[in-house]
Amino acid sequence: MTDLDALERDLLAQVEGAPDETALEGLRVATLGKKGSVSELLKTLGAMTPDARKTWGPRINGLRDRLQAALSLRREALAEAALAARLAAERIDVTLPVREAPEIRGRIHPISQVIDEITAIFSEMGFAVAEGPDIETDELNFTALNFPPGHPAREMHDTFFLAPDRDGRRKVLRTHTSPVQVRTMRAQAPPIRVIIPGRTYRHDSDQTHTPMFHQVEGLVIDKAANLGNLKWVLETFCKAFFEVDSVTMRFRPSFFPFTEPSAEVDIQCSRKDGEIRFGEGQDWLEILGCGMVHPNVLRNCGLDPDEFQGFAFGVGIDRIAMLKYGMPDLRPFFEGDLRWIEHYGFRPLDVPSLVGGLTG
Ligand code: PHE
Repeated sequence: MTDLDALERDLLAQVEGAPDETALEGLRVATLGKKGSVSELLKTLGAMTPDARKTWGPRINGLRDRLQAALSLRREALAEAALAARLAAERIDVTLPVREAPEIRGRIHPISQVIDEITAIFSEMGFAVAEGPDIETDELNFTALNFPPGHPAREMHDTFFLAPDRDGRRKVLRTHTSPVQVRTMRAQAPPIRVIIPGRTYRHDSDQTHTPMFHQVEGLVIDKAANLGNLKWVLETFCKAFFEVDSVTMRFRPSFFPFTEPSAEVDIQCSRKDGEIRFGEGQDWLEILGCGMVHPNVLRNCGLDPDEFQGFAFGVGIDRIAMLKYGMPDLRPFFEGDLRWIEHYGFRPLDVPSLVGGLTG
């Protein structure tokens, strides 16, 4: 009968060593299940003589009882251990600060913010948004805008030229958003009232210039749009954008091949210790170029200058962003430094509007 004792020791050791509830259940089925080893032992009792059964009955039943007890003890221990592990893993420290969700932590780049602000202001004035590609043909960037081939004004723009194509034509990274004036006039009939925000490129780099920068072009074409309207639009825009009752602007006569007459507009500011402040001081910062659309440009777009006229302007977005938000250097705008964007960026859910406030 040492066999039975050995079997019991072995089974109890297996129960003790069962690593988890699944293994334990497997062990139960293998011993006490219908065809389990201990169940089979119990079945042998029926065929025994009464004497033998007297001896073996209590022993085998005893083995079954002790095995059952051991199984349920082990099951309880395993369940407790599993619960404890889960509680430890899922523990929440309610004293920790709440981690902000990505849509709360993320920041809108000042350029995107300012483009949204500009769009909100001009759409209130009835302007639609138009767009064009960054890689532009020489024809649209220059020729159609009344820059004759070889004209020195092309040099003014420090153009990035692409390698010539098979026909020897070189595309350019657009040096201004003005080619989209041509695209718009060729695509839709007047009256036209659009703004065109976008990236522009020139070979230039210092504190207020980067090789890639942003402009917003404005174009109004109808039968009567005049310089007075242009001035009003620009002043209204500047007051709304800078959120002030009056702005000091200076219109200087200038030259652009695609406008006549032309002007450059400066805005009053102070520049102390490299910091640009708007609304004070004796300095001027050039923020835009403008003028009446040149008759040659209208003709190049299939419009009769005796019937249609209009004005255009091109505003340096980066410049007015720096002015409005007191950012002294343009270069970090495009360096992708998280610390900078955390400091100067805007909250994503504060969408600018004239009604709700441009800057939240
Ligand atoms: N395209 C000009 C520039 O980039 C700006 C401008 C736009 C001037 C529209 C007049 C009219 O300098």
